[in-house]
Amino acid sequence: MARLFVADHPLVKHKLTFLRSKFTDVHMFRELMQELSMLLAYEATREIPVEKTFCETPLMKTETHMISAQLIALVPILRAGLGMVDGLLSFMPMAKVGHIGLYRDHDTLQPVQYYCKLPANIADMDVFVLDPMLATGGSVAKAIEIIKQTGAKRIRFLSVVSSPEGIAFLQKSHPDVSIYTCVVDQGLNEHGYILPGLGDAGDRLYGTK
Ligand code: PRP
Ligand code: URA
Repeated sequence: MARLFVADHPLVKHKLTFLRSKFTDVHMFRELMQELSMLLAYEATREIPVEKTFCETPLMKTETHMISAQLIALVPILRAGLGMVDGLLSFMPMAKVGHIGLYRDHDTLQPVQYYCKLPANIADMDVFVLDPMLATGGSVAKAIEIIKQTGAKRIRFLSVVSSPEGIAFLQKSHPDVSIYTCVVDQGLNEHGYILPGLGDAGDRLYGTK
């Protein structure tokens, strides 16, 4: 079974308070989403490969390390996953970015695919799937299924708010994929929304409601 990492950190808890609040405006919501993504990325990238290199300090030449960021793929699930991309790119500007477009059918809660564009050699990359909301788990499970069809094997998932139901579903569907999340909430309501959650992440990021 892959790991579940919950970022139980004071900075994360503090920022989540403002992210959840219905009084937080679009601009602040975007900033908080980006900052929380950076904090999650710190942990989720702990095991990515580094290469030995050298650099010259003002005093001497020394052996150092660099990440091979061109072998990192970020795959946001549209729309809301886009809100996490810049946070990770600020650490790894050379990472490739693929996109998978999915929306949840309002009645069935099943994911409907409308877009997919992935980096050419994603099979050889460390892949970070991004979506701030893990509710039923249907969307991310579908996205990972699409990514695995390319042959990609090292896949991690980053979410900001997760439900216990979504975590269980994802662990069952893709037991090899580690999950990194800021918080595990109480559960889902009858419409598949996370409680207490933060509402509709896409609408809050883009001001569409
Ligand atoms: C939201 C969210 C996830 C999905 C989570 O997207 O961003 O992709 O729901 O729900 P699930 O775990 O039950 O599949 P939504 O369908 O609202 O699309 P949007 O991002 O375009 O608004
Ligand atoms: N998608 C969201 O944006 N929020 C939820 O609570 C569930 C799914």
